[in-house]
Amino acid sequence: MTQILTTPLVAPVRSARTRHYVMCPPTEFDVVYSINPWMDPSTAVDRELARAQWQALQDVYAGLGHRIDLLEPVAGLPDMVFAANGAVSVADRTYGAAFAFPQRQAEAHAHVDFLRAAGREVHRPAHTNEGEGDFLVLRDVVLAGHGFRTTTDAHREAEAALGRPVVSLELVDPRFYHLDVALGVLDDGHGDGPADIAWFPAAFSPAARRTLRRMFPGALECFEADALAFGLNFVSDGRNVVLPAEATGLAASLRERGYEPVPVELSEFVKGGGSVKCCTAELHR
Ligand code: ARG
Repeated sequence: MTQILTTPLVAPVRSARTRHYVMCPPTEFDVVYSINPWMDPSTAVDRELARAQWQALQDVYAGLGHRIDLLEPVAGLPDMVFAANGAVSVADRTYGAAFAFPQRQAEAHAHVDFLRAAGREVHRPAHTNEGEGDFLVLRDVVLAGHGFRTTTDAHREAEAALGRPVVSLELVDPRFYHLDVALGVLDDGHGDGPADIAWFPAAFSPAARRTLRRMFPGALECFEADALAFGLNFVSDGRNVVLPAEATGLAASLRERGYEPVPVELSEFVKGGGSVKCCTAELHR
């Protein structure tokens, strides 16, 4: 008689690394113009709720032991709470942003001043790019989106400024207008294991899908419902994955992969077209 032995699937043990984040309090946050399909200026923003949700996010990071620096909000810049868009910083290098829409252009200067005051050298860009909205940093490579905001010229410029190869990925669905709403970095590859990502294939061109499947054969592909709940706009420290509470399917998949989902409520910020990652810039190692 043959005995069938089933090997239980054991998820890898994931380890967290302490991170350095930059956040901008939402005192100016509002939806007064529309530059992405999520923004409807006739929808009221609950400022008090926004403040509480943002504070809870900051508290989650602090509770996980991460360092958070605060960028001072500037009056008249309601999207500045989305701090991830203001620059991309890797090791001692920073590539500044140049926003696609005039409504946000002044934010770039606030980021430059802040980062320079913190002792960083900032490369001022010649090409349109929205910082970590479209540049996602891994140990060996930077993944970069184009199609809606950031240009491929900026990808080449970032490659030189940051000294790390940049892989261009075309975005094709306006609901996923930034790379960081279509793809999230679960593990940047600085630990023992390989880099790991989660993504929503339908947001990418066929060529970009092929590139991602070749680079990350075992990547977590998420369902549309989770992607539309901004599930991929998460922030991971390699183990704890802070994500919108509505992305329940993704949270379950993350758990199976050995990650610890940390759900947060950021419903007010979805009205601006952003969530966890958009509110969180990282100064990458
Ligand atoms: N209202 C902002 C915009 O459309 C939202 C930015 C979201 N940030 C992000 N990293 N995806 O520019």
